[in-house]
Amino acid sequence: MKKIDFRGRKVLITGASSGIGRALSKEFAARGAHLALGSLPDEKNVLKEWAAELESRYGIHTWMFPIDLLEEAGPEQLYREVGEKAGDIYGLVNNAGTVAYGRFWETPWERQKNTLTLNLAVPMQLMHLFLPGMVSRKEGVVLNISSVSALQPTPFQSVYGATKAGLQSLSQGVRAELHASGVLVCTVNPPYIDTRLLKTEGYPPDLRFYTISGKKSPEWLAARTLKALEKGALMYIPGVSANIIHNFLVRISPRSLVDAFSRFFMQGWSASGPRS
Ligand SMILES: NC(=O)c1ccc[n+]([C@@H]2O[C@H](COP(=O)([O-])OP(=O)(O)OC[C@H]3O[C@@H](n4cnc5c(N)ncnc54)[C@H](OP(=O)(O)O)[C@@H]3O)[C@@H](O)[C@H]2O)c1
Repeated sequence: MKKIDFRGRKVLITGASSGIGRALSKEFAARGAHLALGSLPDEKNVLKEWAAELESRYGIHTWMFPIDLLEEAGPEQLYREVGEKAGDIYGLVNNAGTVAYGRFWETPWERQKNTLTLNLAVPMQLMHLFLPGMVSRKEGVVLNISSVSALQPTPFQSVYGATKAGLQSLSQGVRAELHASGVLVCTVNPPYIDTRLLKTEGYPPDLRFYTISGKKSPEWLAARTLKALEKGALMYIPGVSANIIHNFLVRISPRSLVDAFSRFFMQGWSASGPRS
């Protein structure tokens, strides 16, 4: 497959004002892509400063879309405004996401529902909105930020795991439908990345999993992800240890062992969080 060249092409990234989305936007900008950047309305000023920095450092154009994607009309509004301001886009990066930590039945439904909506329904709807244009132009790339959580049980953040497994399935199914259309749907499945997500209220600061997997930086992830995406990698799991722990061992081990292992390591060492 020919290497994907992002120079001069427009890419929309949701959740671009922090963490992984911010680091990805730098990698796209460094390759000469023009960027449509999404954030929550509250982060408008942070996004503005970041967009100005990307423009001056890389000589690209940016457009900003501070829209709450949890609002019922959020995804439609984003689609409409991107069309009006930036025009047709080549790339869609579904990155905005959230997590709720705690026992499934004890965690408020509002937080579970928001996780379900932002991590799965929103990317699904954005794909549904943007894909027809990409298909008619016979070119485009969707990059869905999945997770290693799509590959294993994720006790105490079960809804998060369910959304990422759903996003994984959606990506693979739609990708097969798009065969020979010129449009690609790819996923990246990051391990633990040191961002605000892992500091979400209630999330154990000392998750036992960090002892074996560590935490990588968003910059580490973004650099590798763009290299893989350029080569058209369909499902990219960055890092050897993530592949061994979350992919290989999960598939060859007995279910009961995977459950017990996940249950132990997805809690904090200290007294915070659910106890077994
Ligand atoms: N960190 C990890 O260990 C890890 C591992 C695997 C996958 N991921 C995935 O990576 C993606 C990015 O997460 P992150 O780790 O970079 O965390 P993050 O820094 O908290 O980023 C989440 C992004 O989502 C945006 N967002 C949150 N609620 C939103 C809403 N209602 N409407 C619009 N945008 C909203 C945030 O925007 P604001 O900046 O404006 O608040 C933020 O930019 C998520 O899909 C996450 O599931 C993370």
